[in-house]
Amino acid sequence: MLIPHQPSRMTAGLASNTARLTARIRAVDAALEPGRRMLDDPYARAFIPGMELPDTPADAERWLTENAWQEGPFFAIVLLRQRCFEDYLRRAAAAGIRQAVLLGAGYDSTSLRLTDLTAMRWYEVDHPSTQADKLDLLGQSGIETPDVHYVPVDFEAGASLADALAGVGFDPQEPCVVGWLGVAFFLRPDAFRHTLKELSELCASGSTLVFDYMDQSVLDHTTPYPAVLSKAQEVGARGEPYLTGLTPETAGEAVRRAGFWPTAQLRIPDLMREYGGTDPYCSADDFMGMVVAERR
Ligand SMILES: C[S@@+](CC[C@H](N)C(=O)[O-])C[C@H]1O[C@@H](n2cnc3c(N)ncnc32)[C@H](O)[C@@H]1O
Repeated sequence: MLIPHQPSRMTAGLASNTARLTARIRAVDAALEPGRRMLDDPYARAFIPGMELPDTPADAERWLTENAWQEGPFFAIVLLRQRCFEDYLRRAAAAGIRQAVLLGAGYDSTSLRLTDLTAMRWYEVDHPSTQADKLDLLGQSGIETPDVHYVPVDFEAGASLADALAGVGFDPQEPCVVGWLGVAFFLRPDAFRHTLKELSELCASGSTLVFDYMDQSVLDHTTPYPAVLSKAQEVGARGEPYLTGLTPETAGEAVRRAGFWPTAQLRIPDLMREYGGTDPYCSADDFMGMVVAERR
């Protein structure tokens, strides 16, 4: 059965709805008592005006209980993939890497929160529609950003990522760390592979790539997780269908073929073991994975 969906929101000039949904997860997390937060992103709320959000820890707990079935699986991956990426980002910074590229950044606030990485130059690449909305909201909120270069690129349109990044001072001779979170599965398989190939050309030896993928079983509806299928249906109907599915094996093969060396693969239960997230609202449904790969 094909998931019905509307024409893409973003080609219609609208910001990504799924980027708003992941920002909502971060905003709900940030409304919990400090000891219960898994990421603690105080900026998420500023990016989703008009969305109903809990204001107090008690409201946030209530929100989680009411939405646990549908949102639980996504709380784990959205919050913990970010924790995992930030670990690799810090490791890269400690090793002297000074360029961070966030691909499909959405309403990500990594550069705003990791202000101790003072030497880092940040490059946020995103679909022009989502990025324009983010920049508007940043302007309205008065949030001060560090040294961030905003690079509008549509990964489906065949524009050169290398040219776009070179235009704002990215140095392909210097290693970088790339986070590509919550994006790969929204691309068509050829655009996914093309972007990986472009990345391998952009990433000097010593660079690290961190990305996540959706299981093929979600796309072909054989996944045992009904809440995940329900979300796939919802986002597809709103113009952002899942288009690329992988398995740990095909994900590893794709990065190798593009010229990277996979150094770690993590599934949701691995992330929960590593970073916590054992609360009942944060379900361990095992439907996505992460790949960490190096350019040698
Ligand atoms: C689920 S959001 C993830 C955002 C952010 N990385 C996060 O984890 O919150 C998907 C992101 O992919 C971006 N995206 C989807 N299709 C894209 C395309 N063809 N070109 C560029 N960006 C795209 C959207 O604009 C959006 O920011």
